[in-house]
Amino acid sequence: MYSTSNSAFCVFRSSVFDNKVAIVTGGGSGIGKAITKELLFLGCNVVIASRKIYRLKSGAEEIREWLRQTGQNSTLHVIQCNVRKEEEVKRLISQTVEKFGKLDFQVNNGGGQFMAHTADISLRGWAAVVETNLTGSFLLCREAYDQWMKKHGGVIVNMAMDMWNGFPGMSHSAAVRAGVVNLT
Ligand code: ADE
Repeated sequence: MYSTSNSAFCVFRSSVFDNKVAIVTGGGSGIGKAITKELLFLGCNVVIASRKIYRLKSGAEEIREWLRQTGQNSTLHVIQCNVRKEEEVKRLISQTVEKFGKLDFQVNNGGGQFMAHTADISLRGWAAVVETNLTGSFLLCREAYDQWMKKHGGVIVNMAMDMWNGFPGMSHSAAVRAGVVNLT
């Protein structure tokens, strides 16, 4: 077993995902980074994608340093992608398939929101949360399916939050995550 973070231990054999390929959006930080490390530790090649390339690159540096210490020979690749932009999502999937020859797992984790009372959310702020989290997830699902999984199968994971009876201070994100659950 190898520690993938300070508090979590992987319970699976470290070769269970050998030669698999995953995309993790938002994979350079937070929960996405933990998912990425877990997949890499299990032998999976991982593409991390996000809108902000500098955050992605600094996250990747840290993950690669950690990966060296595990002795695993899975690889980490970085692709900049704004999930609100259809063309960029198409390119993320096509470049991944081009580089690794397939796509086994699509983890739609990247997203964003901000704390605000519902009465104070502007239309622009609301639309940004909808586009990033709901429309972005839809585009990623559609392209992963169209470009690879329709013919070859695969697994898609959509991240939500504990929003079941509402989420004070984040009504936009809660509404959108409920939409993601239904889409899933
Ligand atoms: N993380 C937060 N917003 C994002 C976006 N628009 N595209 C990709 N990752 C993001």
